[in-house]
Amino acid sequence: MLLESFLYREIHEQPAVMQRVLDRELPNIQRLVAAIREHQIEHVVIAARGTSDNAARYAQYLLGAVNGLLVTLATPSLFLLYQRPPRLGRALVLGISQSGRSPDIVAVLHEGRRQGVLTPAITNMPDSPLAQAADVVLNLQAGVEQAVAATKTYTSQLTLIALLSAALADDQAMSAMLLQLPAFVTATLEQAATIGQYAQRYRFMQHCVVIGRGYNYATAFELALKLKELTYSSVEPYSSADFLHGPLALVEPGFPMIAVAPSGVLLPEMQAFIATVKERGADVVVISDSAETLALGQVPLTLPAGIPEWLSPIVAIVPGQLLALHIAHSRGYDFDQPRGIRKVTETR
Ligand code: F6R
Repeated sequence: MLLESFLYREIHEQPAVMQRVLDRELPNIQRLVAAIREHQIEHVVIAARGTSDNAARYAQYLLGAVNGLLVTLATPSLFLLYQRPPRLGRALVLGISQSGRSPDIVAVLHEGRRQGVLTPAITNMPDSPLAQAADVVLNLQAGVEQAVAATKTYTSQLTLIALLSAALADDQAMSAMLLQLPAFVTATLEQAATIGQYAQRYRFMQHCVVIGRGYNYATAFELALKLKELTYSSVEPYSSADFLHGPLALVEPGFPMIAVAPSGVLLPEMQAFIATVKERGADVVVISDSAETLALGQVPLTLPAGIPEWLSPIVAIVPGQLLALHIAHSRGYDFDQPRGIRKVTETR
């Protein structure tokens, strides 16, 4: 049942999907890079919802750090409901949506076109309304995603964003590192059975907080979303900095937390954070490649060594996906079709 489920299989398909993206999407990336240079883009506005919005958060950090681009998240209600779209200036207006069907996201791209700005899209559906509104389409190459919870389309979105960033910066070292991505994810998936055992500890968990900062702020949001929709627990994402400004008061002995803490600039900060919440008795799952950091928590979810921080969100979400799947399984929930939600949500 578990191994035959769509969700389990789609989580395990991720290295193959990434490989297809790496093999097939470079011509589209190059077309987009040429268009970006031609349009003298000064900033990026991303329209996306749910999981796709979490991919946009990754783009905020990566395109900011590597390409010096200010990336903001669109405010779709200004475009469709208030009918008061802001001036987009020299923006790149990027739509990200696995289905390409949400009217509010499509409306942002239509307005971008009306204002004459460059409007690419990242989608799994090259015939969708979003793709039709786009100048350039980057294809997620994910095949059909049957499980309601997005997994392989999320990591594929991140992979395309990373490829775009590397190509825009003409950074050969980044491009070479991206070729190793499928192997990093394959190595992470080898822990699937161990994570199944850890999940038992959280079978009765009612609330939880996921902490990530910098590049992995996106991971905190995406893991919290997966836990909410699959396990029906109340799970909130925070940056470690924001959590210290008040929510820290929530922590009491046994309070469940997940810390996304891979090697990189943020690691010392995350280590200090874990020590702070441990002092207050928190029960901490640590997602990291650093043995010393993993040892700070009660439950270690190990990432392979050698992943640069900018690439880590694409790998670090995978043990989280497995944890959410296994907690839902331990509760007897239908994790392919969670209650009350559908695969395509059309919002205005
Ligand atoms: C969560 C999930 C949803 C979608 C959201 C946007 O697992 O799948 O949050 O990400 O409904 O959908 P798309 O990407 O089709 O616009």
